[in-house]
Amino acid sequence: MDKTEKTDIVVIGSGPGGYAAAFRAADLGKKVVLVEKDKTLGGVCLNRGCIPSKALLHIVRVMAEVAHLEKVGVSYGKPKIDIKTIRESKEKIVSQLGGGIEKLAKARGVEVINGSAFFSSNSELSIESNKNSVHLLFDKCIIAAGSKASMIPNAPIEHSSILTSRTALQLNEVPKKLLVIGGGVIGLELGQVYASLGASVSVVEFLPEIIPGADSDVVKPLLRRLKKEFSSISFSSKVVGFLPMDEDTVKVVIEHENQTKEEVFDRVLVSVGRKPNSSSLGISNTDIKTNENEFIVVDDYQRTSVKNIFAIGDIVGNPMLAHKATYEGKIAAEVACGLPAAMDASVIPSVVYTDPEVAWVGLTEKEARLHNIPYEKSEFPWAASGKAMIVNAIQGKTKTLFDPVTKRLLGAAIVGPAAGDLISEACLAIEMGADAEDVGLTIHPHPTLGETFAAATEVFSGTMTDLYVPPKGVK
Ligand code: NAI
Repeated sequence: MDKTEKTDIVVIGSGPGGYAAAFRAADLGKKVVLVEKDKTLGGVCLNRGCIPSKALLHIVRVMAEVAHLEKVGVSYGKPKIDIKTIRESKEKIVSQLGGGIEKLAKARGVEVINGSAFFSSNSELSIESNKNSVHLLFDKCIIAAGSKASMIPNAPIEHSSILTSRTALQLNEVPKKLLVIGGGVIGLELGQVYASLGASVSVVEFLPEIIPGADSDVVKPLLRRLKKEFSSISFSSKVVGFLPMDEDTVKVVIEHENQTKEEVFDRVLVSVGRKPNSSSLGISNTDIKTNENEFIVVDDYQRTSVKNIFAIGDIVGNPMLAHKATYEGKIAAEVACGLPAAMDASVIPSVVYTDPEVAWVGLTEKEARLHNIPYEKSEFPWAASGKAMIVNAIQGKTKTLFDPVTKRLLGAAIVGPAAGDLISEACLAIEMGADAEDVGLTIHPHPTLGETFAAATEVFSGTMTDLYVPPKGVK
């Protein structure tokens, strides 16, 4: 049955950016419609991304901790993997969180329409589902339709051996031999999950390094660990051909320095980046502008080239991170409701949730060198941390970068367990304009991994007593 509705604000997409935008706008007194094409709310992050992958990575980390316990006198024997129960427990977390979002929408009076939104003009959408079609007239719209996995041109995408993060996270089975194409965040996180569950994992990475966004010194402890867990990591290499063998195997041609080799895998995970979902929204029926990479162009107020239409999250560009989307979603909602908000965050943290985790925020040494930005750095090796010794994490480190003149913190990077949690303090310090003494003179609890952040700043200030750091100028 077709119907026509009117709303103050419509939000397209219910991921962490979309539902935050919808809920903020509703809290500011607007009539809000939230459109979602999937059956459940929460978007990729909740249903097929951040949450299920982290649920699996938690299992990986605990398995590693339990294995280490053997060295301190507690043994449980070889782990027994029950893939069905793992899958169900991951799905339970996803469904509990999805149910929570539904309840929050209901409590705020946000109307959820299940279907695909398609613009017919700058102020109208049609929302199609298999049940009905809704013609929606809106004052303001916030597009939060996200992104999807990019594919490499010659991959046989219909073949059952080819996985994306979406299908890999379904955890239908543990392959014997898994090839991961792309040593970025998704490839390494899911590669580690499958390796821990018993797969033989090989990685093919186009560049000469993994996690190219982070400094190589902080990636090093992770790389050392992955080299032990994975069968191989091939750098400066690419897949140039796929030859499906049967339903369950594919022969892959890998090129490295003009030489090719062939290898047979039962599953191939393609994790070579993501692209915006901007082509299926009927944008050509509006005056919204997109750039050469199909991202929607927005200003600091998350406004598109159409005054009453905003866009946020993956669909407006990198970094494609849930926490960036949430932040932008709230800005868009506030601006749409007439409040004086703007996207003015100083920094956006990045975290790779492998074991060990790698996290960084603000300036990296790579960026500083590339753009000739002056900086001074200090590091605290976790080998000198009592807590790191207790939790078997002495390979970790905390690095801080400072402005040589003002001594303000410009960037920080951490590698080790819980690095993703620990980096928040650096985010706050940068956002507050803290200098080395502000952090170093803040009393941190002992013994914790968190105190390594203060320790790194004390190394910079020359007040560190847990290490011997010769005073500046003394050789
Ligand atoms: P990515 O951009 O992190 O990594 C892709 C990797 O594939 C790069 O290292 C690139 O050099 C390599 N590559 C590209 N083409 C290739 C080819 N033909 N052959 C071999 N290697 C190739 O992308 P990924 O891992 O797919 O993640 C997509 C997005 O999802 C990212 O933007 C990321 O921010 C987000 N994400 C974030 C997570 C987190 O914050 N922990 C977790 C998962 C995803």
